Amino acid sequence: MTFKTSFVKTAKSKSDTAVVVVHPENALSAGAKALDKDSGGLIAHVLRNQKAFTGKHGQTLAITAPKNSPYNRFVLLGLDKGKGTRTSVEPHAYEVAGGKLMAALKAAGSKAATLYAIDESDNAARLIFGMTLRGYSFDKYKSRPEKPEDAPVRLEKLEVVTAQGPVAARALTGLTAISEGVLFARDLVNEPPNELYPESYAKRIQKELAPLGVTVEIIDDRKMEKLGFHAHLAVGMGSARPPRVVVMRWNGAKGSKKKQPIAFVGKGVTFDTGGISIKPAANMDEMKMDMGGSAAVVGLMRVLAARKANVDAVGVIGLAENMPSDRAYRPGDIIRSFAGKTIEVLNTDAEGRLVLCDALAYVQKTYNPRLVVDLATLTGAIMVALGYEYAGAFANKDDVWTQLEAASKATGEKLWRMPLDEAYREEMKSAVADLKNLGSLGRWGGACSAAGFLEHFIDKDRAWVHLDIAGTAWINGDRPLTPRHATGFGVRVLDRLVGDYYEG
Ligand code: BES
Ligand code: MN
Ligand code: ZN
Repeated sequence: MTFKTSFVKTAKSKSDTAVVVVHPENALSAGAKALDKDSGGLIAHVLRNQKAFTGKHGQTLAITAPKNSPYNRFVLLGLDKGKGTRTSVEPHAYEVAGGKLMAALKAAGSKAATLYAIDESDNAARLIFGMTLRGYSFDKYKSRPEKPEDAPVRLEKLEVVTAQGPVAARALTGLTAISEGVLFARDLVNEPPNELYPESYAKRIQKELAPLGVTVEIIDDRKMEKLGFHAHLAVGMGSARPPRVVVMRWNGAKGSKKKQPIAFVGKGVTFDTGGISIKPAANMDEMKMDMGGSAAVVGLMRVLAARKANVDAVGVIGLAENMPSDRAYRPGDIIRSFAGKTIEVLNTDAEGRLVLCDALAYVQKTYNPRLVVDLATLTGAIMVALGYEYAGAFANKDDVWTQLEAASKATGEKLWRMPLDEAYREEMKSAVADLKNLGSLGRWGGACSAAGFLEHFIDKDRAWVHLDIAGTAWINGDRPLTPRHATGFGVRVLDRLVGDYYEG
């Protein structure tokens, strides 16, 4: 549940907090000046008598309102001066400021806020988008407190005072399609693994996406067997919850010049124990996030449908639970993948590549896509390299990387290009089968050898990008646009990639 926003010309409803903008070096905006006057010069007085707040972009300061004020408090929000000024600000910077504002409102315990808006309407929409992303919380499994006053406080209403309401409202509608996709992806990742497993996950996708016009096809384990998804099936063998493949299609391309679709593939391991090569107990609960790549694909398809994107897109996600049991696959097993290549299993914890290689081969064979982008929480090694900040991007075409890099910069979902190389592909060759699922160098360069493994399943000349999001799908700590845990990483940057380069 997110807050309700309304745009008005003059403040109408009662709210507990007034938010006004202050520019760098504590230059008061028109709204701040008016409020300062109404409060007998309180804002200027407070600013003079402190040092920390300077009006720097994204800074906030909450001050108690005077007794006779209609508000309980004022929140000052630092913003650079926007469009047409010397310090013209990137749209993304408004999102970040909005996220920080939301954190300040939450800390202050605000339920209803009035925002005396910034000059440019589209930036107001960006700000609210950032507030929405940061305001997310996952609390469906928390019992209601007995006393209503013990309920957690959250922002319920936002009134934006602006002369450009209709323009801002229109901009916000477009951004809401995106935030809803991001929030849906987060919900999926935050779900516990006893509730979200391949079968229940597939049904949930159908329920959410079919009404928006996405064709959802669920391939069950029997059908997977027939089609030849043996690498994927091997990963799921140890679990009582059988694997699934979900294919989502959004056919939004208009006009006669139909192009090949763009394809998205996601790793959907609903829980990764490591299998027989079992993981240590500490923090194993976090391995419910091992379906973050698939959730990004689902969230993205939701966005494309919600904003009726002028594109044909297909999303294929491989769902399985990786468990140890008497039926589990073993180190030493040799399995035959969908593509026909045989794989020696050396470590059952390197399961993501086995799920992905079948989905990648299937999507290329079935849909002949112009570009394939896969997302996967694939390796701990990418976290060693890039931490929580950047996802690793392995791209086999420079021009696609250039597009992706631009989309990444515009949305703030950071990507760092990593190498694809013959040597990494060689490293994944087995003495007894075509390939092995663990590189000869073990952990060294583990993210690169994993990408090298996947590259064996990419057709010659097919444009492909692999995103290793192990470090960015789940964060143990708040960020401006994401409270801790599931981030929904990938939805925004890929929506932008589609919008800027693959539509029309
Ligand atoms: N799901 C993990 C990767 C992972 C680690 C995701 C930490 C998120 C946070 C993946 O299936 C895995 O276990 N990878 C192994 C590969 C190794 C056995 C080659 C790893 O990274 O240790
Ligand atoms: Mn694993
Ligand atoms: Zn995994």
